[in-house]
Amino acid sequence: MRTQVAIIGAGPAGMFLAHLLHAEGIASIVIERRDRRYVEGRVRAGVLEHITVDLMRRLGIDARLREHGQVHRGTNLSLDGRLIHIDMAALTGGRTVTVYGQQEVMRDLFDAAEARELPIVWNAADVVCEGLQGNTPTVSWNDRDGRHTLACDFVVGCDGFHGVSRGAIPAERRQSFERVYPFGWLGILADVPPAGHELVYANHERGFALASMRSTTRSRYYIQCGLNERIEDWSDELFWDELRLRLGPEVAARVTPGPSFEKSIAPLRAFVCEPMRWGRLFLAGDAAHIVPPTGAKGMNLAVSDVLILAEGLGEHYRGSSAGIDTYSQRALARVWKAERFSWWFTSITHRFPDMDGFDRRVQIAELDYLSGSPAAQRALAENYVGLPLAA
Ligand code: FAD
Ligand code: DHB
Repeated sequence: MRTQVAIIGAGPAGMFLAHLLHAEGIASIVIERRDRRYVEGRVRAGVLEHITVDLMRRLGIDARLREHGQVHRGTNLSLDGRLIHIDMAALTGGRTVTVYGQQEVMRDLFDAAEARELPIVWNAADVVCEGLQGNTPTVSWNDRDGRHTLACDFVVGCDGFHGVSRGAIPAERRQSFERVYPFGWLGILADVPPAGHELVYANHERGFALASMRSTTRSRYYIQCGLNERIEDWSDELFWDELRLRLGPEVAARVTPGPSFEKSIAPLRAFVCEPMRWGRLFLAGDAAHIVPPTGAKGMNLAVSDVLILAEGLGEHYRGSSAGIDTYSQRALARVWKAERFSWWFTSITHRFPDMDGFDRRVQIAELDYLSGSPAAQRALAENYVGLPLAA
């Protein structure tokens, strides 16, 4: 078997890349460990930057996004119940974000892949990539019929944080930078109307809370929790009580409680692997970097990586290696800005176990400063809606 680009992983990074390459006339095969149902069922991101919305439009997969995506012109912070409204559109020359679940994005990507006959290998076990320093690397995997080998020009590792591709770069040729946070997010989905049209990021004495949504009838809420807490210990009643307390009376009055149909705990981590290229292997998305979810950047970074990479691969097949040679550097420049923003936004909104009175007062001062300073609000807004792709 042979193709031009072998893509490992059918998450947002892998599938957006497959569509972008298809649009450039470059052949690819996506090799995914799980089945479509599993990948599409994972409840994850909810906020799309304009680069992601623009890309879906460009790829012609935005029909459902236009119908169901909710355009948000502003967002809110809350400090012990006091609301601070950030008018993102006014502060950024009209930029907005769109609330549309990652599950919906995946469905649109897979439906269009089927219609365009983009090849995806599902349930591929024991994926291995080899020959990455030569001209014809290979990706091999097992399925019911035995072992298969795919020869290609390039391998792109889009297999998420726990994938195999990053490990194919020898340890002495890569560097990792990491922050593991001493808390997680307990998230629920419930078919109840959201607490308002916009999101609320709440800093409360008892910890962070986030009010988000998927539609006008489906709510997504998160509360900060300890790393050793168990989902079984959080009944819906306990969750709603704690959430309302942290959001403060004004927002709590608009929360409609109801039975949750999804409840899970996600740890918070920041991670970057440098470089994002080794020979004929490129890393994209969570395979190369993780951000704490506070800034809603993870899926959007996967998109900016593959936008830069697809452009570089297009140039390669037209005869210039400049684009792929600068991929790692260009992608990392945007990644680190998103890491910085996500780190900062996490630091001003969460309760850290080792916080003392000084730290707490600095947090309060940060939020107080934000509430009164259009300059500070603008810095938040331009990062939240998404920084431009580097030239
Ligand atoms: P993944 O989505 O992890 O996809 C990797 C794929 O590779 C998977 O399908 C996996 O099955 C496959 N794979 C793994 N190993 C192998 C292997 N060995 N062989 C073959 N295939 C393999 N981001 C945002 O932008 N906005 C948000 O609001 C947001 N909120 C989030 C909330 C939560 C609770 C969480 C957990 C994440 C959130 N994110 C958010 C982050 C976002 O979901 C991820 O950054 C995004 O999914 C990354 O896409 P990816 O394609 O790089 O990796
Ligand atoms: C959602 C997730 C986030 O990480 C975030 O910052 C905002 C919204 C969500 O799942 O809706």
